[in-house]
Amino acid sequence: MQLKEEILNTLKNNTDNDTSGQELAQKLGVSRSAVWKAINALKSDGYLISSVTNKGYRILPQSDVVSKADIEAMLNKDIPVYCFESIKSTNLTAKKMIIDGDKTGNFLIVANEQTDGRGRSGKSFYSPKNHGVYFSVVFSPESTIENSLKITSYSAFCVAKAIQKLTGKNAEIKWVNDIYIDGKKVCGILTEAVTNFESGSVGNIITGIGINLSPCEMPEEIKDTAGFINFEKPIKNRLIAEIVNGILSFNANDNSFMNDYKKMSFTIGKKIKFHLNSVEHTGTVIDIDDNSGLVIKYDNKEITLRSGEITLI
Ligand code: BTN
Repeated sequence: MQLKEEILNTLKNNTDNDTSGQELAQKLGVSRSAVWKAINALKSDGYLISSVTNKGYRILPQSDVVSKADIEAMLNKDIPVYCFESIKSTNLTAKKMIIDGDKTGNFLIVANEQTDGRGRSGKSFYSPKNHGVYFSVVFSPESTIENSLKITSYSAFCVAKAIQKLTGKNAEIKWVNDIYIDGKKVCGILTEAVTNFESGSVGNIITGIGINLSPCEMPEEIKDTAGFINFEKPIKNRLIAEIVNGILSFNANDNSFMNDYKKMSFTIGKKIKFHLNSVEHTGTVIDIDDNSGLVIKYDNKEITLRSGEITLI
């Protein structure tokens, strides 16, 4: 075990008292400066640690840090969990692991920071260290390619439900799978499939979820539209586990979640812009059908969108 982890465990076992640097150094057989460096590394990982002169260090209960052991303990299914401090993109890593044949079956990749986070339509997804959770759930549903839209909307339903349950905040869905609180986007989802074209079945689904948790400086182009869950208690591990538990119980033959999806969705009745064959149109959303299609009225016609991006106007 790394010195950092040994110090973390010692502090976690003594949260009611300060532990002095001297005591840690003696117990772990290292210098006080090594202890100091490890404490700084823990702080940089996101742990809130008080340090009082002549008393020592104490881990504060508000610390909200991703922990493999905590997530595993809350998952209903026994799947491998991989946690990274910083990687390019959890979706990219997941895809690579599947294609290289490193991994089969269900697994979960979590990162505290992504340096090349991917969004839909070739956009990037800003994923700063310590201010959000970024994770990819890989699973192999008994499902055909046509059902992919359902998986996309189902994951949005799981995220919105988990946020509402754990924070009490009114998380809403913008079709297909953006999550908003108070009119600002707090979560984006990128679903990718590694398909088996011969059988027409979906081999692996990668559902990548990025949630903005606490306020931070955002890039110019999203600073007016991005929001944060802004919940004052530690939530990362519970939120990830709750969402993953939901997603892993996906059943392609069960549409019952659509009732709640529609209730959580703020798109119905709204005027929107959308694209058909690269031509922009304006219309009004009149419904979301049982297969998650967006029913739009425009130019005295009705159309059901099965994929794509819409803009509210
Ligand atoms: C979007 O809103 O355009 C979708 C954003 C999806 C972001 C998540 S963060 C975890 C996973 N890894 C990625 O690179 N992207 C997804």
